[in-house]
Amino acid sequence: MADLCHRRKTLLFAIFFLTLLGYVLVQYVRPALWMFETPMRKMPQGLPIPKSLVPVQYNNTRNTTVLVWYWAFGRTCDYCRQHLQPNVCLERYGIPNCILSDDRSLFPQADYIIFHNRELIEYTEKLPEHLPRPPNQAWVWFSRETPPHNGDTRFLAAKFNYTLFYRRDSDFFMPFGWLVPRKDTTGITIDDVVPKEKTHLACWVVSNFQPHHERTKFYYKLKEVMPVEVWGGAVKRGLNGDDLRPTISRCYFYLSFENSIFPDYISEKVWINAFEGGAIPVVLGPPRKNYEEMLPKDSFIHVNDFKSVGELAEFLKNLSKDKERYASYFRWKLNYTTHSFAGVEDWLVEPFCRVCIQQNTLQRPKVYQDLHGWQWRR
Ligand SMILES: *[C@@H]1O[C@H](CO)[C@@H](O)[C@H](O)[C@H]1NC(C)=O
Ligand SMILES: *[C@@H]1O[C@H](CO)[C@@H](O)[C@H](O)[C@H]1NC(C)=O
Ligand SMILES: *[C@@H]1O[C@H](CO)[C@@H](O)[C@H](O)[C@H]1NC(C)=O
Ligand SMILES: *[C@@H]1O[C@H](CO)[C@@H](O)[C@H](O)[C@H]1NC(C)=O
Ligand SMILES: *[C@@H]1O[C@H](CO)[C@@H](O)[C@H](O)[C@H]1NC(C)=O
Repeated sequence: MADLCHRRKTLLFAIFFLTLLGYVLVQYVRPALWMFETPMRKMPQGLPIPKSLVPVQYNNTRNTTVLVWYWAFGRTCDYCRQHLQPNVCLERYGIPNCILSDDRSLFPQADYIIFHNRELIEYTEKLPEHLPRPPNQAWVWFSRETPPHNGDTRFLAAKFNYTLFYRRDSDFFMPFGWLVPRKDTTGITIDDVVPKEKTHLACWVVSNFQPHHERTKFYYKLKEVMPVEVWGGAVKRGLNGDDLRPTISRCYFYLSFENSIFPDYISEKVWINAFEGGAIPVVLGPPRKNYEEMLPKDSFIHVNDFKSVGELAEFLKNLSKDKERYASYFRWKLNYTTHSFAGVEDWLVEPFCRVCIQQNTLQRPKVYQDLHGWQWRR
């Protein structure tokens, strides 16, 4: 009897001890270890829309204030201001209880403050370190560029709590586009989603034309073996925003060549130019596997899938002549449309509103002790 009682006490103590240990590990040890984790967010299988971007049911009983300390690229942003009525996030994106503002007097009550990287590295803007920072206020580092285009950010060590970036392991993950399942797929046929009139085999719009870019070297080789129509400042043949999609829709293929190659860096060159333009993207960027994590598997052609530039050119020429097989690359459009940031005002406003709906998944507290190293991590 005494033995039984003793065993029960031991058991109760063990349960108590293990619960306490678990609590300590989850509360204190795991957050401290975040730097050693590589938490690439998993995409839901078969539905290539990032979970963090599906509008979640979120029940905030109090307002979240997102303060934009200054607008990116020195924009005066009158356009943005017009939309900065208290309810811009609700009216434009259906996100409630989310106050977006650029009024610096809101500093003491701001939950999140957004700092765009470019102005910091060029020293045209600086962090408000002279102000007493409320303990729960988080500073958010924001960029849409790859590390080589973000400058030397080592002086920003231990200043930021969160990142708003195109990489999936960012706190606020903001890709250049994503798929939106169609609510109603009835009556849509493949003919509706493949542009009919095609006059060019391959097209490319390039503003930043640099001889050292991998994409430039590839282009020179490609144009030896097949015709490529080029537009953009680099060739003094500009294309304004309204003409972009109609022009690309006349191309069988669009060269979605990234300016630098980094994980998850799949830019508007795929989402807007190719997908929304209506051409099949020929991609040069991270490996195919990475594209397949972000785009439908059969929606693009990867340059690495070919032994030579000649073989790629032959494949493209063949494909352009095979109507049915060409159309198969557009099949995903029967079930999805795309969401992208076509105008500057969209990517200047919407990502900040989305801070409000992603906050449930945040680690708290968090500090980027080595923002520079984090960016360059591959
Ligand atoms: C959100 O709040 C409303 C009203 O308080 C409630 O009816 C609803 O069930 C809540 N939703 C969730 C997901 O908690
Ligand atoms: C949130 O902000 C809106 C707009 O400023 C205001 O009307 C509302 O009363 C606020 N709600 C709370 C709970 O503070
Ligand atoms: C292109 O088509 C020709 C003729 O049908 C075929 O012999 C060749 O293998 C094809 N090439 C590629 C790369 O698909
Ligand atoms: C697309 O939707 C249709 C009808 O809802 C469904 O039968 C089909 O399996 C879907 N295809 C893909 C690739 O998801
Ligand atoms: C934000 O980072 C600072 C250090 O820069 C830190 O003192 C503060 O506790 C962090 N706050 C949150 C909410 O993570």
